[in-house]
Amino acid sequence: MRVLVTGGAGYIGSVVAGQLVAAGHDVTVLDDLSTGFADAVPPGATFVRGTLRDCAAEVLADGIEAVLHFAAKSLVGESVANPAKYWSNNLGGTISLLEAMREIGVRTIVFSSTAAVYGEPERTPILETDPTRPTSPYGASKIAVDTTLTEYCRLHGFGAVSLRYFNVAGAYEGAEDRWVGERHHPETHLIPNVLAATDARPVQIFGDDYPTPDGTCVRDYIHVTDLADAHLRALGAARAGEHRIYNLGNGTGFSVREVIEVCREVTGIDIAAEVGPRRPGDPAVLVASSAKIQSELGWRASRDLRTMAADAWRFTQARSPQ
Ligand code: UFG
Repeated sequence: MRVLVTGGAGYIGSVVAGQLVAAGHDVTVLDDLSTGFADAVPPGATFVRGTLRDCAAEVLADGIEAVLHFAAKSLVGESVANPAKYWSNNLGGTISLLEAMREIGVRTIVFSSTAAVYGEPERTPILETDPTRPTSPYGASKIAVDTTLTEYCRLHGFGAVSLRYFNVAGAYEGAEDRWVGERHHPETHLIPNVLAATDARPVQIFGDDYPTPDGTCVRDYIHVTDLADAHLRALGAARAGEHRIYNLGNGTGFSVREVIEVCREVTGIDIAAEVGPRRPGDPAVLVASSAKIQSELGWRASRDLRTMAADAWRFTQARSPQ
């Protein structure tokens, strides 16, 4: 199939683009490189540098049959400081894309959504039918896109699938031993920060007074390769007139301290850590129920936290100067 991957030079988009190429799809990546890297675009994909607003229509007109939409701003803290940037990029950019799709007649879309749409959950594991009460403009912009997609399905016959990711981690070894992993600037995510810690700059544990077994926050980590597999299934499952929504996680929570411990075991390094204050807006526990995607699309996470840490470490080492 001829597919467009927006944001395909970013961490998750580039891994999914690589899997699509490997599965025999004809892939075009559209990315403005505001946070992505041209060298993350997989060999075999066509790369167009540009924004959704300026370039989506032209790229779509070149025979695209379906879109996997990752292009977005994704820093919770930044979204609180600058909400307009998130409304403009995440909602405004998506509306430009959807309008271009509608005009050209491309009606299949898989959307990269997030656990942040749920905010502080009332219970875990979280179901897709649980209330969506985002606590940041980032999460709010993503739920606004979901609402928009529902309308495009109802009114314009789109077939959409939204995948709400919990904590994506790990790295992907693509063709020619190319490792693709997290390269955010600044890096805010736990595992890359743990792996980058030194004795002089220990990893900060953001609070150890949460109501959890060891006092640190609990999250549901999912390997980026498992996530990519879910996107390929979602692409095959999109049906005209339907907007399907699935959570994507492992269904098991790990605390910050447990993650650090697994990283120590995998690297053989006694990684330095110190407890700091809570990070504003962090819920104590976020764990997904992925029962819906398991039963409807037959997807199941198959890689554990140790594999995520080991792959992230291999990626880190592959990028370090020897
Ligand atoms: N953490 C630390 N130290 C760090 C980084 C993170 O202790 O240096 C903690 C955080 O406080 C949190 C956990 O590790 O408890 C995981 O933090 P991440 O930043 O890796 O991930 P989040 O759970 O904050 O974020 C994820 C997604 C976001 C999404 C959010 C929803 O990456 O896109 O879940 O809450 F918005």
